[in-house]
Amino acid sequence: MIDVAITALGKYLPEQRLTNKDLEKMVDTNDEWITTRTGIKERRIANKEDGEVTTYMATKAVEQLIAKRGLDPLEIDLIICGTITPDLRFPDTANAVAHNIGATNAFGFDVNAACSGFLFSLATGVAYIKSGMYKKVIVVGVDTMSSILNYEDRSTCIIFGDGAGATLLEANVEGNGIKDQVLRGDGSGIEFLHMKNGGALNPITKENIDSGDQYVFQDGRPVFKRAVQGMSRTVKQVLANNNLVSSELDWIVPHQANMRIINSVADQLDFPLEKVMQTIENYGNTTAATIPLCLNDYESKLKKGDKIILTAFGGGFTWGSIYLTWAYDGEL
Ligand code: COA
Repeated sequence: MIDVAITALGKYLPEQRLTNKDLEKMVDTNDEWITTRTGIKERRIANKEDGEVTTYMATKAVEQLIAKRGLDPLEIDLIICGTITPDLRFPDTANAVAHNIGATNAFGFDVNAACSGFLFSLATGVAYIKSGMYKKVIVVGVDTMSSILNYEDRSTCIIFGDGAGATLLEANVEGNGIKDQVLRGDGSGIEFLHMKNGGALNPITKENIDSGDQYVFQDGRPVFKRAVQGMSRTVKQVLANNNLVSSELDWIVPHQANMRIINSVADQLDFPLEKVMQTIENYGNTTAATIPLCLNDYESKLKKGDKIILTAFGGGFTWGSIYLTWAYDGEL
């Protein structure tokens, strides 16, 4: 069986910052509420007027990865983008990214799994290499959440931010890489977290726009509960499948939705917070980008052979955990 590992990383974050203090001037909220309820202090916001949106951010993240790894774009077989905020309804973000970087031998497609978008895309990329079909697959998690938020809705606009993280997948001869996955979905979650307008059900009409349903809707409490449950149960399942106990892990990389969710998951697993990657304070919830952004920010601390579990929960509901061993030491 071919082992498939993450062999390079890249990221892109907009310069523009939206702090809790800024939000205090926009909606009825305050720094103290946001900090204690979510752990978020600021998020990055794409400069849409300058075209700094999903395709741009994904392209920049992939360009950084290519430069770090010294990769020829012509070697890339496939690009997969996890995103719920593509620039266009069609064609896909991944296709445009391939064009931008000159990956003319590649094809690409997007995966829509909300905050689990990176995990589902990663599992897909791994399967293509394991099958022997392709050798180099790039998996990106990218979202411009600011393009689908209502900045008059304090329950959602304080949570999300924009950004992109990219990973390269290749076969690994040392036995490191993605070892196992438990991925799940439950469509009964639609009512708690969705965006109604702009699809086939509610196309863009003047009436639909007036209804205001073109923004993210979230009923936070049930989502919170299911997120803690979904992430901790699938981490436990992956541990059991691989005859591991949590103390044997070097890192857990949770989706960054809320600091209290992250703390609860660590608590359920009796796992020390020092070994839980966290970027939520500075970036907020960047949806499909949170996990690859964490890997980028902690890359210098990672060592070959480190045992890592990635875990996420998001709209759908979609959720799951992936167990992997890291393939290289420190930053490339
Ligand atoms: N500032 C101040 N007060 C706010 C607020 C804000 N930004 N947002 C909500 N409130 C108020 C509510 O109106 C409510 O007031 P009330 O008690 O007078 O009715 C109170 O704070 C508590 O609201 P609630 O929604 O119960 O807060 P919460 O503790 O559940 O936190 C979330 C809200 C959204 C931060 C939290 O539910 C959450 O993180 N949910 C999961 C998000 C998630 O994981 N998404 C996954 C997809 S990635």
